[in-house]
Amino acid sequence: MEIRSTGNPIHWVRTQIGDKYAELLSEIQRAAITLDLEVFVVGGTVRDWVLGKELKDIDLSVIGDALVLVDEISKTLDITIVKYKKFHTATIKTAEIEIDVVSARSEIYNYGGALPEITLGNLNDDLRRRDFSINAMAISMNTPYEFMDPLKGMTDLDKGIIRILHDQSFIDDPTRLFRMFRYASRFDFAIESETCRTAETAIAENCLTTISKERLTHEMVLILNEPNTDSAVKYLIEFDVLGIPGVYNPLILFSTMKQELKWVALMSMYEKKYYEMFFQKFSLDRQNANAIKEFINLCSILDDNDADLLNEMDIGRMYLLLKGIPRITLDAYVMCNINTDLVKLLQQYMMYTDRVKLNLNGMDLINLGVDKNQISEVIDVLIIKTLKGEISSKSEEELIVVQYVNGLND
Ligand code: CTP
Repeated sequence: MEIRSTGNPIHWVRTQIGDKYAELLSEIQRAAITLDLEVFVVGGTVRDWVLGKELKDIDLSVIGDALVLVDEISKTLDITIVKYKKFHTATIKTAEIEIDVVSARSEIYNYGGALPEITLGNLNDDLRRRDFSINAMAISMNTPYEFMDPLKGMTDLDKGIIRILHDQSFIDDPTRLFRMFRYASRFDFAIESETCRTAETAIAENCLTTISKERLTHEMVLILNEPNTDSAVKYLIEFDVLGIPGVYNPLILFSTMKQELKWVALMSMYEKKYYEMFFQKFSLDRQNANAIKEFINLCSILDDNDADLLNEMDIGRMYLLLKGIPRITLDAYVMCNINTDLVKLLQQYMMYTDRVKLNLNGMDLINLGVDKNQISEVIDVLIIKTLKGEISSKSEEELIVVQYVNGLND
């Protein structure tokens, strides 16, 4: 496909994401004319427009200083502007929408993973500094609304290929590895062979060690939030990005999984002895960190006892081992180890424990003479006897409690 002119981008923005964006863009266009600045729609916005995908946000590039442009529109509109002066970029925010505006620039990375030093430049500089050819196309917001594609992004979009623009790309910014997997899986594109080799070399040179835990975590969260996470995770493991031995497990389906299980599911594809190493690489929120710790704990309990559990099939023993493990952790283990004998046993156990509902509560136990400190012990006894099918009614529970209180319990 060849595109020379797209017409005024405001028209397609209006049809694809609505009037609010179109109106804000009109104001930007007006300000650009007043200030005699050239402004381009760039990056993912152009890519998604060409692909006919839903537009989520808008990226603009100004030839000159973006901060001057945003100051001009703030004179007339009720908007919030967040400026990043060092990089001459800004985000325009209204109650409902956001537009990112950058100053066209070239970037120099003094060392891998560093924040770049920038020099204001022209459109070509600005397209060349970007991650992939498919994200390096531009459409002018000034008449005649020219479509600019000096790096052949359009050809790659047609062929379905992800291609970097220079061989230092992943060393400069290792987050691009994750971006590459996201785009390849999102659009079902192939990774161009030279790009593949460059990625492998950068990974072999441990390029990821130059970025912070927080950035790494952020990139991983984006992968886990992709609609096609499965394929992105497959890339992640096959490229051995984290430097941890693992094997992609196609039976684990991220697309249908609860959000809170995703980190554990990802970790489960790595070898067990490296779980702690996986955990240490990220800076996780409390909920995900706890989920991982509980999972590691469950794995070590099962590893220590699996032979006994499988031989004896003693549900009481299993209950005592697993009673402190949250249900979601058991679910996660089942999901990540489909079809193993231990999981079948675990599923049986979960089915039985789900059915157990004692007739007596804590207060009933106290009224029957149980010491407060022994309530949980007595409850364990009642649950185990119920699980084993030895008791099933309130009166049988009461009898056990009375025997216990009288020291007759076995
Ligand atoms: N970009 C880059 N290198 C990065 C991050 C971003 O070159 N590490 C450039 C790309 O041109 C990208 C643009 O900045 O298109 C905007 O970045 P971002 O909003 O993160 O990406 P989108 O392309 O909008 O992708 P997504 O759909 O995932 O939001």
